[in-house]
Amino acid sequence: MGEFRVKSTEINRRVFVEKSLGMATAVTLSSWTVPAQAAQNDKPKRTRVGVIGCGSVSHVYLPHLSASPYVELVSACDIKPERAERQAARFKIPHHYPNIEDMLAGAAFDLLVNLTDMQEHEHLNRQALHAGKHIWSEKPLANSLKAGQELLEHAKRRGVRVWGAPTVVNSPQFACMARILAGGSLGRVAAAHADYGHTGPDWSSFFYEKGGGSMPDLGVYNLTTLTGLLGPAKSVVALTSIVTPTRAIRDKGRIRVTEEDNAMVLLDHGRGTLSHVQCGFNFFNPHGHEGSKEKRHTVAIVGTTGVLGLVGYDWEPLGVDVATAAAPDFQRQATDKGDYVWQQGASLVAQCLAMGKEPLFTAEHALHVVEIICAARQSQETGQRIDLKSSFNWPVVS
Ligand SMILES: NC(=O)c1ccc[n+]([C@@H]2O[C@H](COP(=O)([O-])OP(=O)(O)OC[C@H]3O[C@@H](n4cnc5c(N)ncnc54)[C@H](O)[C@@H]3O)[C@@H](O)[C@H]2O)c1
Repeated sequence: MGEFRVKSTEINRRVFVEKSLGMATAVTLSSWTVPAQAAQNDKPKRTRVGVIGCGSVSHVYLPHLSASPYVELVSACDIKPERAERQAARFKIPHHYPNIEDMLAGAAFDLLVNLTDMQEHEHLNRQALHAGKHIWSEKPLANSLKAGQELLEHAKRRGVRVWGAPTVVNSPQFACMARILAGGSLGRVAAAHADYGHTGPDWSSFFYEKGGGSMPDLGVYNLTTLTGLLGPAKSVVALTSIVTPTRAIRDKGRIRVTEEDNAMVLLDHGRGTLSHVQCGFNFFNPHGHEGSKEKRHTVAIVGTTGVLGLVGYDWEPLGVDVATAAAPDFQRQATDKGDYVWQQGASLVAQCLAMGKEPLFTAEHALHVVEIICAARQSQETGQRIDLKSSFNWPVVS
């Protein structure tokens, strides 16, 4: 771990906007800086971390967090207390708790890393914010734009910060695509497509229950990538469905699927640019959940004089293929992903808090994606095109 991408200068933003999108004005950068914590004895400054949710994804997060010199793992918590106890023992975390109340009243920490069920994030994030903790949340940060904006307002009043997964904008491949778009070689950008799916998890039922679903679990990556590259969406039209009405879940038996497991989301980014995200829990994939073996273009963007394709998934990217009118043979770029791994978000924000730096990803972008997902569901229910209210600082360039 080490290098991370930070926000760009105003000049980069202006160049990007003018070159690729023909707009005259640039957006301004957030002036909010993170106060650095005090250094002690020349050791790297460290952020004290409490992890809540010690299930599947904690097995990927905790090795990354425990390898970071900017992290002091203080506590682990799970309502299945044996899981918190097991991860505490494995990763030498001194305290473990069976619920958030005990955790917040227990050993002091600075940053809550929330790895619980999707439906639990909002209320746990709110509780931790009220206790003055910074938040790194797995997706979604909140269940609605309004609730998420209230969390951000509260965080501002308390002088703490909130960030949420995913971190796809942090990859060198995202940066490469943003640079190509900024360079203008694709001409006027017309259309984009992104897709992500597999046959669905079998270890927990929340993925298939209200507030879960394939959009906040899978589509969220592509929605973050496409809005990050093409700009905030103005409106949404979507179709969603349930393909598999019941599922077998480990330790639970058969459950009824009550949230969409199949979704097609169309976005209007303004200026004539349209994009499409396809996600679902019924996608046969010869590689299963193994991202590194995916060699297709899962994100493709086309303009009047060029096309680019992201090789592999945006959360595990392998390169960027580009063809333009000036150089029509596909050229592969950005095949090195450096330090980027999808599970790096909590370690990065711990590092940012310790060093007083600002990560490239923002809570406002995460909440824009929450609004898109809610709007997609509303579009499915009503048959209407849904206008969006939220936005975020864009372009996202390092
Ligand atoms: N598993 C993955 O590969 C993966 C990858 C990326 C993101 N995610 C995201 O991570 C989150 C967790 O997914 P998972 O696969 O680890 O699920 P999981 O079911 O394996 O783990 C969730 C854990 O949270 C605990 N929990 C639930 N409510 C709680 C509460 N109120 N207080 C304390 N603990 C609570 C559960 O007991 C469980 O141990 C989800 O948002 C998911 O979308 C998962």
